[in-house]
Amino acid sequence: MSATVATEVRPERLHTSDLPLRIGVIPGDGTGPEVTREALRVLDIFRDELKVDLIEFDLGADRYLRTGEVLPDEELVRLAGCDAILLGAVGDPRVPPGVLERDLLLRIRFELDQYVNLRPIIRYRGMTTLIPHHHDEDVDLVVVRENSEGLYTGGGGFHRKGTPHEVAIQESVNTRHGVERVVRYAFELSMRPGRRRKVTLVHKTNVLTFAGDLYQRVVDEVAVAYPDVTTEYSHVDAACLYLIEDPGRFDVIVTDNMFGDIVTDLGAVIQGGMGIAAGGNINPNGVSMFEPIGGTAPSETGKGTINPLAAIAALMMLMRELRQDAVADRIDRGIGVAVTKMATMRAGLMGFSTSAVGDLVIEAAS
Ligand code: IPM
Ligand code: MN
Repeated sequence: MSATVATEVRPERLHTSDLPLRIGVIPGDGTGPEVTREALRVLDIFRDELKVDLIEFDLGADRYLRTGEVLPDEELVRLAGCDAILLGAVGDPRVPPGVLERDLLLRIRFELDQYVNLRPIIRYRGMTTLIPHHHDEDVDLVVVRENSEGLYTGGGGFHRKGTPHEVAIQESVNTRHGVERVVRYAFELSMRPGRRRKVTLVHKTNVLTFAGDLYQRVVDEVAVAYPDVTTEYSHVDAACLYLIEDPGRFDVIVTDNMFGDIVTDLGAVIQGGMGIAAGGNINPNGVSMFEPIGGTAPSETGKGTINPLAAIAALMMLMRELRQDAVADRIDRGIGVAVTKMATMRAGLMGFSTSAVGDLVIEAAS
């Protein structure tokens, strides 16, 4: 299985006829299935206007514990044959750390060459967040996280493991090709309608003088082709501060895999929490995968109280990537109405059930 298999499948299908969209669904672990169910209920309201084949994948902790399999090659080939994939969440306390994360989630990202992790940080009107001085319009940016290399490639190893002289090496891999393609994606994105034509590189060039230098040089070179785009740089630690102090200074952030992972959790906080934060693992020429970024929430599993808006927002992003803008717009509106209603109702209610939030979106998007 190679990335080229994946990149050859989708565009051909999208430009041909009115074949149904093949959407792979990986409900996954923990609260993943609960939130995915709500996203699929939302999708169902479009059944008359959009032909969709749902292809369900049994991947995650249960399958691993039952069979020892994480991601058999045949499943990867089936995933590569989808037009896009919707993922709930993966990870489970019964499975040693890293098994599902590396061999399932990261393997899909790498093998399908989903080299952009696109994480919009948008605050819907009326959302309450932990940051009292932010207004809705202050929070409107997108993080373009490199998704195929950096510290995530798994390079490194132990030397004299378990001894007092143990050495643990974890390598960050940054290629010219990898950096350039993600930086180009960020510049293109900053030019799209509604964006403010500003790209901020977030890194730590004062300490990571090799990887950071490559990123900075690539940004400087690519910027020449985008004279209308303002380019800025922020160290990652300072960027965390600015996300709280003055997030309006950011439009498009481009950053490496690890920094992008970290700053987007902070980003979720200023959006209103993990319950609303969605992202896409994008291969612009292939098969992309969309997910709520929050994880499996083991302590909430099975209670029916987890917020499904992030999974519904992941579906919205999926529809946009498949150029179903009318559908995406309606889901977007549905989420907006749900957020407003939840804010007004919050005064009188303790919490929301997962399916009640789904109902709010369905009512507003129908
Ligand atoms: C995320 C998650 C993953 C990551 C984990 C589960 C491997 O935190 O999607 O942000 O680090 O990329
Ligand atoms: Mn993360």
